[in-house]
Amino acid sequence: MRKKIVAGNWKMNTLPAEGVELAKGVAAGRGEVCSCVNFIVCPPFTHLSQVVETLKGSDIAVGAQNCATEAKGAYTGEIAASMIAALGCKYVILGHSERRQYYGETSATLNKKMEQAYANNLTPIYCVGENLEEREAGRHFDVVKAQIEEVVFNLTAEQFADLVIAYEPVWAIGTGKTATADQAQEIHAYIREVLRSKFGAAADECPILYGGSCKPSNAAEIFAKADVDGGLIGGAALKAEDFLSIGKGF
Ligand code: PGA
Repeated sequence: MRKKIVAGNWKMNTLPAEGVELAKGVAAGRGEVCSCVNFIVCPPFTHLSQVVETLKGSDIAVGAQNCATEAKGAYTGEIAASMIAALGCKYVILGHSERRQYYGETSATLNKKMEQAYANNLTPIYCVGENLEEREAGRHFDVVKAQIEEVVFNLTAEQFADLVIAYEPVWAIGTGKTATADQAQEIHAYIREVLRSKFGAAADECPILYGGSCKPSNAAEIFAKADVDGGLIGGAALKAEDFLSIGKGF
């Protein structure tokens, strides 16, 4: 049985006090959702520490939204994976489309970040997904395949066993447009097939999350699909009630 995961990507939202309140809300309602669902919250760097503290004693894990390519040193403004791990975080989102699009992250950058994550015992949530133009040109399979081959294929079997993938079509992120459950299943099954070609049966253990305007009203239908193992949630993760309600979609 693959892990079921609902991860919240808070992006550049919430001030520290608001983040703590949000985390408290998630912890308070967590008991209403099956313990089989693994919840992860990914706040901004500035309040990772406070959110970790707030969630101590709960089974809700905390992740960062990015990490540096280098281990330490003269890299003004960067945050090392070791710093994130030292706070008690377990996960790090890497390769989010917003980072690829606005901050020029490439596969070369992401290979280094993945290496840093594993060196510090952080589980990467590696994001892939095509933009609208690529989808309309029918290139979505090729785009996603390249994003996997250029980064995930460089992992050892041991590293691959500790990886979460998130498929997020760029045209569905923050747009209110969700991929249909069938579209999600089609590409999730394809991703798993690509993973199987390299890692064999271990591909069946890798959680693949859907992201892009996932909300309480559509989560159940999407999560019901065989190769969808949960969601990476943006907007709807900013309200504890909605985030938890997505978890009830399993
Ligand atoms: P959204 O964002 O749920 O607001 O569409 C998802 C994401 O970018 O991770």
